[in-house]
Amino acid sequence: MQYLTVLGREAKLSLAELEALFGGKNVTSLGHQLAKVTADSFDLNRLGGTIKAAQILEQPLADYLANLPVGKITLGFSDYSKGANTKKTWLLALKYKNILKRHGRNVRLIPATDAVISSATAHHNQLGEKLNHIEIIKYNDIFATSIGTQNITAYAKRDQQRPARDAFVGMLPPKLAQILINLATEGKSSGTVLDPFCGTGVVLQEAALMGYSAYGSDLSEKMIKYSQRNLDWLTEKTPKLQKSAAPAVTLEEGDATDHQWQSTDIDFVASEIYLGHPLSAAPADIKFKELKQDAETLLRAFLKNIASQIKSGTQLALATPSWLRHDGSYKGVDILDEIENLGYNSIKYLNATQSDLLYHRENQIVARQIIVLRKK
Ligand SMILES: C[S@@+](CC[C@H](N)C(=O)[O-])C[C@H]1O[C@@H](n2cnc3c(N)ncnc32)[C@H](O)[C@@H]1O
Repeated sequence: MQYLTVLGREAKLSLAELEALFGGKNVTSLGHQLAKVTADSFDLNRLGGTIKAAQILEQPLADYLANLPVGKITLGFSDYSKGANTKKTWLLALKYKNILKRHGRNVRLIPATDAVISSATAHHNQLGEKLNHIEIIKYNDIFATSIGTQNITAYAKRDQQRPARDAFVGMLPPKLAQILINLATEGKSSGTVLDPFCGTGVVLQEAALMGYSAYGSDLSEKMIKYSQRNLDWLTEKTPKLQKSAAPAVTLEEGDATDHQWQSTDIDFVASEIYLGHPLSAAPADIKFKELKQDAETLLRAFLKNIASQIKSGTQLALATPSWLRHDGSYKGVDILDEIENLGYNSIKYLNATQSDLLYHRENQIVARQIIVLRKK
């Protein structure tokens, strides 16, 4: 089947995530935050970087609409083509509403405030998720029917209601944790995900929800306690985790640069390494060099230490710091030249270069640069 996907803010990173799950040759960037994906099935809930997904129609849209199951229809229409506007999209929506009416169908049209329906409106109206709650997504001459929108309510709950939070450590957005896990696991259905800088446990939480065993370690005893509290809270709230035979999470204290992990059962590594102290402005050149060197030293020592403790082929997806420079660009840790000597290859994507794999908000001082490695 073919799917049209609407990508998140960091579109290139989202493309890399899709490639990790579906293979590079099955993912085509269409520009305009869109991609086409060939896949047997599509589970939007496990993707951090895709906002909406829609199955491309193989039949004319009018035929598809004429054959919808009985019952009232809620219809939304989004046009992602270049040059689309609210008025043109609304007229198209009315055209298809009238076709449905001629078939005697009762239709509620979602009012258009833009050429595309926002993910909040799509989610709120359960478009693509409930029988006859339809969102038609148009891109040039492609028509697709939504299979859902990212569940922003669930993300917000997982993010904001966790009992143990730490503003200083800074918490990874759950969506980025999912992206890291997908880049490391490439969608394999089971195994153990290690986060050796687990902090408050966002990666562990998402890994457990995605069906993996989660294994965390951190230098700080306090962070291990925080992770434990957050994971206990998650298990309490999530019946499927209570039913699982294996414990959802294993935690231990340790410095990632010299720790011997107690379990050698590590299949994937997904982690946000220490990003350094929070900064209030772009660092001056001397400070920047110092921060970069410290982060490179930590990353190098960690990679050296873990190399002998993981199997050949194990993939690591790491969020590493990248600093805002005075010209508005970002510059991050730069150890890819040494990667081979450390015993790894770096993973390349067809739709994104290494410098594209950046996760940040505008003017954020410390952004996250994502690197994906495979143990030789
Ligand atoms: C950026 S935070 C990770 C935050 C985490 N992703 C979360 O969502 O809470 C980095 C973590 O690395 C830990 N850390 C710093 N140096 C470390 C080291 N050498 N070994 C292991 N953990 C370390 C810190 O205690 C901190 O919890």
